[in-house]
Amino acid sequence: MTTKIAVTNQKGGVGKTTVAINVAGALADRGHEVLLVDLDPQGYLTSGVGFDDTYTAEPPSLYDALLDPANHALNELVVHHEEFDVLPANIDMFNLEQELVSSMRGRERLSMLLEDIDVYDYVVVDCPPSLGILTDNALLACRHVLIPAEAEDTSIRALDLLFKQIDTLEENYETRIQEVGLVVSNVDYPLDNEQKGMLEWFEDTFGERIPIVEVRSRAAIKRAFNNGVSMFAHAEDCDQTGALLELAADLEQLQEKTNA
Ligand SMILES: Nc1ncnc2c1ncn2[C@@H]1O[C@H](COP(=O)(O)OP(=O)(O)OP(=O)(O)O)[C@@H](O)[C@H]1O
Ligand SMILES: [Mg+2]
Repeated sequence: MTTKIAVTNQKGGVGKTTVAINVAGALADRGHEVLLVDLDPQGYLTSGVGFDDTYTAEPPSLYDALLDPANHALNELVVHHEEFDVLPANIDMFNLEQELVSSMRGRERLSMLLEDIDVYDYVVVDCPPSLGILTDNALLACRHVLIPAEAEDTSIRALDLLFKQIDTLEENYETRIQEVGLVVSNVDYPLDNEQKGMLEWFEDTFGERIPIVEVRSRAAIKRAFNNGVSMFAHAEDCDQTGALLELAADLEQLQEKTNA
């Protein structure tokens, strides 16, 4: 069984893309077959893993596949990275939300596209910074949510809105969408009072329910991104790999439970 995980938070710049790449890298490092999906029309993940050419390539792309999943096979669109496979975004996807809003089952296109992918142990989907129809597609296709958030007061409202959206989808589609972890991302020490307060709030609010992992701000993480890889691809030592490997281990436990 493939475990699918949507990396989402509609707030911009909170570390979604960085977390998606590095969680995929950690899972691959632990020996899993991983597909990384870039559902953000801005395509930062696609660039970040070295597929800028695919982002601006001629059709067909993920755009066409989401418009007409029945007539596109995933393996025509997937590209191979040294750590994992990638389903890249394309610049055409800027028109996608508008087209899907007026389409039948417009929120279930990614579900259809990812229906029969049993070659992967994990699919990790990087979402755009909005609670629009693309994020709905990711939530419904994955039904597992990994939430990156910064240790800032503004995260409280962001998470409240995200959970309301999840509740609405669960009701409308009679499904269950499960949170699988919270990544407090880009944490910069020494902590100020706001950060300390937020770390406590995350712990009080989610600590009993889901794993909370802290990833500190590190130049090595940015360097890996600029080199088109996760932190796990090359030998450069970074003290934050442990946190991501821990999260990967939590996701393995989740997979065992789901498959049991
Ligand atoms: N742990 C970290 N250490 C250093 N820099 C980081 C870390 N996490 C994120 N960043 C940086 O913060 C910025 C925002 O991160 P990222 O692009 O992953 O966020 P995002 O939520 O995907 O943004 P968007 O909402 O635009 O999609 C990037 O410049 C990224 O390199
Ligand atoms: Mg992003």
